[in-house]
Amino acid sequence: MCGIVGYIGTDEAFPLIIQSLEKLEYRGYDSAGVALLGSDIKVVKVVGGIDKLKNKILEGRVGIGHTRWATHGGVSERNAHPHLSCDGEIAVVHNGIIENWEELKEELRNHKFVSETDTEVVAHFLEERLGKGLSMEEALKELKSRLKGTYALVILKKGDDRIYALKKDSPLVLGILESGFMLASDIYAFSDKTNKAIFFEDGEHAIIRRNEYRFFDSENRVVEKRIENFSWSSGKEEIGNFEHYMLKEIHEEPNAVRRLLLSLRTDQREKLEALKKLMETKRKVMFVASGSSYFASLLGVYFLHRAGIESQTLIASEFHNYERVNGDTLVIPISQSGETMDVLDAVKLSKRKGAEIVSIVNVPHSSIQRESRFSLEIKAGQEVCVAATKTFINQVVLLMELASLFGYRAELDTLPQEIEHVIKSNEKTIRKLARRLKDKNDIYIIGRGVTYPVAREIALKLKEIAYIHAEGMMGGELKHGTLALIEEGVPVISLIPSKDDEVMSNVIEVESRGAMSIRISPESKEFKIPQTNSGKFAVFSVVLGQLLAYYIAKERGLPIDKPRNLAKSVTVK
Ligand code: G6P
Repeated sequence: MCGIVGYIGTDEAFPLIIQSLEKLEYRGYDSAGVALLGSDIKVVKVVGGIDKLKNKILEGRVGIGHTRWATHGGVSERNAHPHLSCDGEIAVVHNGIIENWEELKEELRNHKFVSETDTEVVAHFLEERLGKGLSMEEALKELKSRLKGTYALVILKKGDDRIYALKKDSPLVLGILESGFMLASDIYAFSDKTNKAIFFEDGEHAIIRRNEYRFFDSENRVVEKRIENFSWSSGKEEIGNFEHYMLKEIHEEPNAVRRLLLSLRTDQREKLEALKKLMETKRKVMFVASGSSYFASLLGVYFLHRAGIESQTLIASEFHNYERVNGDTLVIPISQSGETMDVLDAVKLSKRKGAEIVSIVNVPHSSIQRESRFSLEIKAGQEVCVAATKTFINQVVLLMELASLFGYRAELDTLPQEIEHVIKSNEKTIRKLARRLKDKNDIYIIGRGVTYPVAREIALKLKEIAYIHAEGMMGGELKHGTLALIEEGVPVISLIPSKDDEVMSNVIEVESRGAMSIRISPESKEFKIPQTNSGKFAVFSVVLGQLLAYYIAKERGLPIDKPRNLAKSVTVK
């Protein structure tokens, strides 16, 4: 995935690049590096987080930086970006995957490659073309015509007071700062410095000087770009008194829901109504999403079906294998980041087939939002922890509100206070439970109907944060195999909206086989959960599941906000 940054202006570049990389660290945190332009190009790289770069100060007013999530080549200093040409005169940072890197590398066999990455070919390719007498502008055009795959690339050249940038299928944006310009993977990288930005479209490249920029379209013709005003978190998210962002973000849920409900009933009301209308006029309504957002979409399908509206959802990475979209389909991508490559691909495919796109995202101006006819925002604010918490809750709340336009009884007005109460009155109990579960190898979570997607989401949280194998499943499927794994002491968490829920029969089945049974229910003496409708019960159960994953991970001493091998924004396939 990776986060990339470039700065050119009148201020010292290094501290600005470091600040922005810190804000992009959620995109990847295997290794990091910076290159600054002086009389030479100077590079520093580290394995690990941006913190380790901070004492390696470089001087200069033009530079590029990178925070990596490894795809090609293991996690090592030599695979960290920026990558250099043989003569060290060209430095490149990249987000994406160059698919034809091996072919290009073969063509460049007279060059000395030092890394195992796909990216390094870019530096050598440009060096080769410059060596043949091409100008940098000409070499860039050739590069564009030869590269296959996905890329946001930011490039420096020794003795050349400019930054070069090009983009295809990976996000790239130019921030207009008072002191100069900043290129970055997303607006959050510089949202504390400006609210003005220019978004790159696929196939475009730009040449940025200290006081001017020029954009070129996919045919290399000069193109006039609009400067957009955006509003997004204006500072680095403060962790406050919380030990981790994850806990902070769970505690933010009541306010995030409050903010969203207000917005859906005021400034976003018209868009919500327009979405309703489209759903009524199109023959097919299809959600598409990945990870937690997919489980939110499953809940959306459930709420809508309850209200008599037919819809379906597909996991984005499998969309092309299962979709049957056409001009009469409304496709609703759900994505916190608005950048998930699998979702973006599904959106582009659907558009080619004539479908209408209305997205649900958290990050404004994100690629998925910009590909949509219009977009509803979940207003959760920046989420720093890799695992989705408040953004998941807000996705679900938005879908409940949407379903309620069709008659679903959501009763959301009191939800913020109720979530607050659920967190406060159960946190201690959950901590105790976490101690009982911390050494378990497997945890099963069972639900039916509205609680089935919740069981899946809780299992995902346990896997990604607590590193415990967990399976969230439909209670009815237990007897078709998984029951064979239930023996003395195996933890099974059952989500029971009311005492006569069907899932009770599964509870009896697992308890009679000696499972460590944990019943999450309004009837339970252990947990304090308000008696309410099943939709809100689903929300409360997720909150408890999030807290449980958090406290187990804490007991196990894990890096909660940045779990191993994961990244928040998955911009590769
Ligand atoms: C990653 C994140 C998950 C997220 C998923 C989909 O795997 O770690 O938390 O649910 O991507 O992301 P999106 O931004 O599309 O919601």
